[in-house]
Amino acid sequence: MPARLVMGGQWGDEGKGKIVDALAEHAALVVRATGGDNAGHTILNPRGEFKMHLIPSGIFHAQALAIIGNGVVINPRGLLDEMATLRAAGIDLSGLRISDRAHLVMPWHPLFDQVEERSRGAGAIGTTGRGIGPAYADRASRTGVRVADLQDERLLSEKVTALVASKNRILGLYGVAPLDAAQVIEQYYAFAEQIEPHIAATEILIQDALAAGREVLIEGAQAALLDLDFGTYPYVTSSFPTAAGSCAGAGIAPTQVCETLGVFKAYSTRVGGGPFPTELTDATGDHIRERAREFGTTTGRPRRCGWFDAVAGRYVVRLNDIGRVALTRFDILDDLEEIRLCTGYWVGGEALPYPPAREDLWERIEPVYETLPGWRSDTSDIRALADLPANARRYVERIEEALGVTVGLIGVGPSREQLIHTDASAPMTAMAG
Ligand code: IMP
Repeated sequence: MPARLVMGGQWGDEGKGKIVDALAEHAALVVRATGGDNAGHTILNPRGEFKMHLIPSGIFHAQALAIIGNGVVINPRGLLDEMATLRAAGIDLSGLRISDRAHLVMPWHPLFDQVEERSRGAGAIGTTGRGIGPAYADRASRTGVRVADLQDERLLSEKVTALVASKNRILGLYGVAPLDAAQVIEQYYAFAEQIEPHIAATEILIQDALAAGREVLIEGAQAALLDLDFGTYPYVTSSFPTAAGSCAGAGIAPTQVCETLGVFKAYSTRVGGGPFPTELTDATGDHIRERAREFGTTTGRPRRCGWFDAVAGRYVVRLNDIGRVALTRFDILDDLEEIRLCTGYWVGGEALPYPPAREDLWERIEPVYETLPGWRSDTSDIRALADLPANARRYVERIEEALGVTVGLIGVGPSREQLIHTDASAPMTAMAG
């Protein structure tokens, strides 16, 4: 049985956690494949409300292994804090597996993240400050520390001693106080002791599960427009949160994925800097932010809000071969008189059929909008597509037409039950196999 993949279609915070949580009910393995604790997934289930940064939501399902794959960068302190919170809530952690090939966020990574951001001045990316970019940079430069290194005390101490010496030289140029290698080593030995029982060759666990016909769910983090190659570079994260990137980060081949589900909000948000053609800087934007409580799970920053961008959306659907879309936070639009949908980009009087690579073009995009009438009624208790007001159905249909893909699921509130399955015979939160 092949794997299924859930990914974000915009700039993150699409509500992937809720969709993954519902799908995880049937999965044998739930795998995080990219990013680090820059991600924040809020999960509301009968055990309570949980803000997850690293541990996949499979942890709430007794039948599933929750896997942190090789493509993730792990801050061990954050991981242990998250484990402690879950343990305190009575969640069994025996199904947690951590790839021995995953890289560790080291104490110097957040320091570099912060000083590099400061030095960018007005061009700051608006990172989460968690050291994600520097950790991935070290991975690519082959100067990273991996989970496997925690299993070899001598190697860990040699690596950390050499790295602290070289990192301190650069930190000194930024005027940052030097790190103490002995302290870092001691700290990471202590982490190693607690993490050790969970370390595994996760790519083998995943391949064994697939070979045995068991259900594997890959849980995307961040989102396609934050991708290093296809996002709004350089205002992106430092990983590949696309379908292809998630395969690499889990250790599976693209041919082993049977379906990629894309999660999109019914409007758009972005946190941090960078282009956002449909951004609303007016009272409607403020209204959406307040009504939806659009503040970052990881940093608490207010999110920028805007209309649905179907040009960027269509690009994401094509590049990732998204089979079906979950449209989340639909109820947030309930009280708007009219709703706009961006179906084209113009730059200097010329149409731009897809998102550009050039930064200057991104900044000059004039969105072309279709204006649709709002439905002005509460959708939060609706569970069937036919019961949605006609104007709401029209909005969903226009999104489907513009993206060229079926909307399989509509989220109308935060709880597990507040979902509309548009095709009851093939519900999107059931594992199809
Ligand atoms: P970094 O991943 O911390 O380096 O941040 C790079 C950019 O990605 C910034 O604009 C962040 O706000 C954004 N970002 C990273 N992770 C997330 C996420 O989980 N949701 C939304 N934005 C994110």
